[in-house]
Amino acid sequence: MNLKLSNGTEIPAVGLGVWQVEDGAQTERAVSAALEAGYRLIDTAQGYGNEASVGKAIRESGIPRAEIFLTTKFLPAEDDPFVEAEKSLERLGTDYLDLYLIHWPQGGPTWAWPGMEKVSAAGLSKGIGVSNFSAAELAELAKVSEIPAAVNQVYFSPFAYRRALLDAGNEAGLITQAYSPLGTGEHLTDPVVGRIAEELGRTPAQVLIRWGVQKGLSVIPKSVNPERIQKNFAVFDFELDDAAVATLDALDTTGGTTESNENKWW
Ligand code: A2P
Repeated sequence: MNLKLSNGTEIPAVGLGVWQVEDGAQTERAVSAALEAGYRLIDTAQGYGNEASVGKAIRESGIPRAEIFLTTKFLPAEDDPFVEAEKSLERLGTDYLDLYLIHWPQGGPTWAWPGMEKVSAAGLSKGIGVSNFSAAELAELAKVSEIPAAVNQVYFSPFAYRRALLDAGNEAGLITQAYSPLGTGEHLTDPVVGRIAEELGRTPAQVLIRWGVQKGLSVIPKSVNPERIQKNFAVFDFELDDAAVATLDALDTTGGTTESNENKWW
C-alpha cells in the first residue's frame, strides 16, 4: 500500500527503519530480509553511519532501484544539505534519493531549506521533507518554502498520538511518518496492546503498526531479526475496528500535542 506525496511520487505505508542498526553485516542482513519480505521503503540517515551497507544490500537484492523508495537525512550539524546529499549518494551508491529529510530542526526550522530545495532542483532527491518538526516549526517553514515539505517524520505511536501535529501535517498537505512506532520496543509488552493482539490473533507489533497505517501515516518499524521484519510487514490483511482504534487512541500520554518530541536533544 502506498501514500501519495505532494511532489507527485508515492511512498509505501510501511518501511524498514535502520536507526541503531550496526553498519556492515547487521544492516545488510536486515535490509536484505526486508526487501525479500516485500518492503520497498528503506529509511536511513547520514547520522546512522550505515548508508553504505544499506546501498550494498539494495544493489545485491537485484530489485530495480526504481522499485525501491530510499530515504536518507541531512545532519543539521553540517553546513550545506547539497554537499551532504552528494556524499550520502556516494555512500549509498545510487544516483538519486526518493526522500531527503532535515533530521531535526537544529539552528531553527528554515535555514537549511534553500539547500534542500537545491537538492530537489538538481534531481538529487525526488522529495524533500523534515523530521522532528513541531506544528509551529512546520508553519514557519511553510512561510519561506517554494517547494513544500512532503514529509514530517516524528516519534509517533498510540502512546505518542500527536493528534494536533498530525492534523497540522494533513493541513500542510504532507505525509506524517512514524518512527519508533513500537516505542523502541517498549510498547510491545503493554497489556492493552497485548489484549487487542490476542483477540485478533496478531502480534503486538502488528497492532501498533496497523494503527499507524489506519491513521494515514507511513510507518517505519526497526528490526534486525528476519522473522520479526517479515511479521511487521504483514499488516495489510486485517483491520482494527473502531473500538480497537479508540482503545489504542486512549493510550496517548502526550495530550495530543503539536510538539514533535518531548525530549529535544537538538
Ligand atoms: P529487534 O531489532 O531485535 O527485532 P521501534 O521500531 O519502535 O524503534 O522498535 C524497535 C525495537 O523493537 C527493536 O529493539 C526491535 O528489536 C524490537 N522489535 C521490532 N519488531 C519486533 C517484533 N515484531 N517483536 C518484538 N520486538 C520487535
